[in-house]
Amino acid sequence: MSLLLQEGTIGNVTLKNRIVMPPMCMYHAETDGHPNAFHTLHYGSKALGGVGLIIVEATAVESRGRISENDLGIWSDDQIAGHREITAICHDNGAKIALQLAHAGRKCECESEIPVAPSAIAFCSDAPYRLPSALPLDEIKNIKDSFVRAALRAKEAGYDMVEIHGAHGYLLCEFLSPLSNQRSDLYGGTLENRCRLLVEVTKAVKEAINLPVIVRISADEWMEDGWNIEDSIALSKALKTAGADIIHVSAGGNQALTQTQPLFVPLYQADYAKRIRNEGSIPTIAVGLITTPAEGEALLIGGVCDFVAYGRELLRNPNLALTAAKEFQETDKIPASFRRGF
Ligand SMILES: Cc1cc2nc3c(=O)[nH]c(=O)nc-3n(C[C@H](O)[C@H](O)[C@H](O)COP(=O)(O)O)c2cc1C
Repeated sequence: MSLLLQEGTIGNVTLKNRIVMPPMCMYHAETDGHPNAFHTLHYGSKALGGVGLIIVEATAVESRGRISENDLGIWSDDQIAGHREITAICHDNGAKIALQLAHAGRKCECESEIPVAPSAIAFCSDAPYRLPSALPLDEIKNIKDSFVRAALRAKEAGYDMVEIHGAHGYLLCEFLSPLSNQRSDLYGGTLENRCRLLVEVTKAVKEAINLPVIVRISADEWMEDGWNIEDSIALSKALKTAGADIIHVSAGGNQALTQTQPLFVPLYQADYAKRIRNEGSIPTIAVGLITTPAEGEALLIGGVCDFVAYGRELLRNPNLALTAAKEFQETDKIPASFRRGF
């Protein structure tokens, strides 16, 4: 039997296979952040296609934490009902589902909002990016509380777990890097201080919801004096202590212009997942230009990761898990109604 189609667990939740849909913004919400029929259909179709774990796109914990005006939100109780539709259809079709809790920080593009960041340093000088205002300490505390309230709403909406977005140059990631975080208080300076906010958010969310917590990070920002894989290993150990169950290992996104960015070839981020798994002693999800069942299987056999995320491939082929079942001759894993198609 293939490893890719074997059950796996994240915390105390069992997934029917190791195939993960990573979060992908669809920019399909109205400006109120409410999910609608598009989201239910979009995520439901991936459940029907056999994905083990669906991670719903970056969902803002505050309205100023949106990337765009059309992001999903979970900053208000009236947004719970729409999310419940998504979790229900995914559960009915055999998938587990997580919500990515996000704050855009200085990468907020909403004209109606003022972007905030650890320090008043813009992502880049071109529109739509603006100079963010540096967060005072009391607002950092409020943002932590927003993550916790959002996680509680996610639990109420039926999500099996949450993913905290600490990657791609959004707020929590901005705190990690010495280039975007130049604070001189408890949240800046040393590696421990720069990691503090993400670690505190993880701990507070875990304590509040007592569900599995995934933390997504960028393992490297590809700058000579920037955040790197060694920092990510140290962070992952701290996140594990704080209650994270698994690290979803991405990279980049905190700099408009990078210095050491690798070529985007198949599996280009996988080695980061392997190092964090081995040296940080915590399970990982690998992601980044993984497109075939055979590649995912090889990553699992090679001890690179515990789960495999297929992003753009699932946009092209929502039935990836079913085609994998055919390829691995495990057609009993294809629902009877579809089997004649394979
Ligand atoms: C349309 C699109 C939207 C994305 N939105 C998010 C997001 O909301 N949160 C996030 O962490 N990553 C986001 N990503 C990154 C993906 O989760 C994934 O890491 C990336 O696409 C690389 O994986 P792939 O090569 O399998 O597509 C997005 C990617 C795409 C293509």
